[in-house]
Amino acid sequence: MLAKWDRLPIPPPALEPTPRDPPSFARRRFLIHTGAITTGLAADPHLAAALPAAVPVARPGQPIPVRLRVNGRVQELTLDPRVTLLDALRERLHLTGTKKGCDHGQCGACTVLVRGRRVNSCLALAVAHDGDEITTIEGLAVGGELHPVQAAFVEHDAFQCGYCTPGQIMSCVALLDEARAGAASAATADVGVRGPVTLDDAEIRERMSGNICRCGAYVNIVAAVRAAARPDA
Ligand code: FES
Ligand code: FES
Repeated sequence: MLAKWDRLPIPPPALEPTPRDPPSFARRRFLIHTGAITTGLAADPHLAAALPAAVPVARPGQPIPVRLRVNGRVQELTLDPRVTLLDALRERLHLTGTKKGCDHGQCGACTVLVRGRRVNSCLALAVAHDGDEITTIEGLAVGGELHPVQAAFVEHDAFQCGYCTPGQIMSCVALLDEARAGAASAATADVGVRGPVTLDDAEIRERMSGNICRCGAYVNIVAAVRAAARPDA
């Protein structure tokens, strides 16, 4: 039996709006038309063969090889191109420290570092990160020693259930680098100042605002980030 994406596209309707078509209806017909064309290119092997060799044609459900460097280890995977980085980490590599909260980019529970920058892994396709360096919460501690941010979260009791905590910690690790590099936030008073940004509580709250804590442990989370930012204070 043919899979859904193996079927040839149904010939699209004519592009020209009829006199009766309101503008929104004409637009919808245009989108149907162009969608049918692109689906047809991917589905029809004759059309796909006519494309330049450099254009990869990924079919839904057709696994492709991906190489990720996760916590310093090279991982060779074969993945459906629709698999998110979050699902690849959790389901294929069994790195379940990275959590799935909303799966819609709204809670920050899935935060990991990609080449040192924080990313919501539920919004990232794994195949788009072929060759990238990924750091998860499992990769922070070295030789049994907690990362200073992990230690600060423990010391300041910055969690209750702990579900959001890996994402909070990964965000905090990236946040410290961003502030050191002088990246401004919406809370930065003078964005023209060059050099490291001082992380007062307003800066910390703004920069951690992508990470939601359903237990409401925000007071202690801010204290932990403050301590990690100013360990000598
Ligand atoms: S699970 Fe990714 S942002 Fe919520
Ligand atoms: S500690 Fe429970 S959600 Fe943050």
